[in-house]
Amino acid sequence: MKNELQLYDRTLKLSRYPYRSNDKLQAWDAGDEYIIHHTEEEMSLASGQRILILNDHFGALSCWFSQRHQVTTMSDSFLSHQGIQHNLQENQCPSINLLTTMDDIPSNVDLVFLKLPKINRHLIWQLSQLRKYLHPACQIIAVNKVKEIHTSTLKLFEKYLGRTTTSLAWKKHRLIFSMPDAPLIHSACEPELTWAVEGESIRLINLPNVYSGEKLDQGARFFLTHIPENPLFKHIVDLGCGNGVLAIKAKQLNPAASVTCIDESFMAVESARQNLHHHFSDCSHIRCVANNCLDDIEEKSADLILCNPPFHQQTAITDHIAWQMFCDAKHVLNNGGQLLVIGNRHLGYDGKLTRIFGKTSVKTVAANKKFVILQATKG
Ligand SMILES: C[S@@+](CC[C@H](N)C(=O)[O-])C[C@H]1O[C@@H](n2cnc3c(N)ncnc32)[C@H](O)[C@@H]1O
Repeated sequence: MKNELQLYDRTLKLSRYPYRSNDKLQAWDAGDEYIIHHTEEEMSLASGQRILILNDHFGALSCWFSQRHQVTTMSDSFLSHQGIQHNLQENQCPSINLLTTMDDIPSNVDLVFLKLPKINRHLIWQLSQLRKYLHPACQIIAVNKVKEIHTSTLKLFEKYLGRTTTSLAWKKHRLIFSMPDAPLIHSACEPELTWAVEGESIRLINLPNVYSGEKLDQGARFFLTHIPENPLFKHIVDLGCGNGVLAIKAKQLNPAASVTCIDESFMAVESARQNLHHHFSDCSHIRCVANNCLDDIEEKSADLILCNPPFHQQTAITDHIAWQMFCDAKHVLNNGGQLLVIGNRHLGYDGKLTRIFGKTSVKTVAANKKFVILQATKG
């Protein structure tokens, strides 16, 4: 895969995170190139502008603009943070201010670049934060694939941010130009959405970018009824925890076990932390960590790992994260420990688990029309 972005007289060497030598996915997209072309050709930006970049994937925009400007980049993704820092270093770029999307928008921003997030609640949150903190004359330039920009998307810009126009399409991408001058909608500035899980003693707060933050994921619903209870479990891991719903149920069933929740979304980790703290009075044995899968988690330290794996990384559909999660789980499980995985039937996780754990160590725990729950036992 191409790893050099060559534009005008500059070359940036960019890789995704985690780095994979045979990666078929590129670390930047035509949307990044469109923003760079637009600023180079249509705007004569004096050096030293205070530029805010939202949702940069692996640092193409942060690297490009940090050379001449003061850049703040905000992203909810731990993987993006790692990738951006690596690529800034690799290209000897000046340092930037790297924040999460839960942090406050910095003051005195001159120009904003926004790569549209996948989740609409996250978009609304970001638009309302921009509207709240930016000067009404500050220009916002957003970008996405043409097919992902619907009339309803532009209506969100108009409603939560302000006056909005769009560019012509280029390489299947379009720019959205907007100004933060709409009336401020105070309710949109509240980040949490709270709801109860039907049939369970579980109530969940969900920050804007948490997976399935508006209602319980159907897979998680099925998974909840098959989480095991075993007094021998000392340490349970919820891998890809989202709002922490699986960890809460596991802790309710196994109150003596310590629990670790891991996700690459900072908002997911914070949602899980708040939810676990709300449900249990003693939280001394509960950890919620932003991480890439089980990187740096101690070998042979868990008795049960629960996993409802992701099947995309940002906009790319991929199964490499699920594969890494399963490989890491084998490393982190104690001998005799179990990995429980839920997935859509068509995803074929049984084949992956069999390759990693061995045929006789993998069995189906439950299945319905849509999902299958698999158990892989180590050793
Ligand atoms: C299908 S969701 C499951 C969420 C929750 N456990 C549930 O069942 O509703 C997968 C989760 O994995 C997280 N994730 C994606 N890539 C990850 C990675 N490399 N390391 C850790 N978590 C990751 C996503 O942010 C997402 O919250």
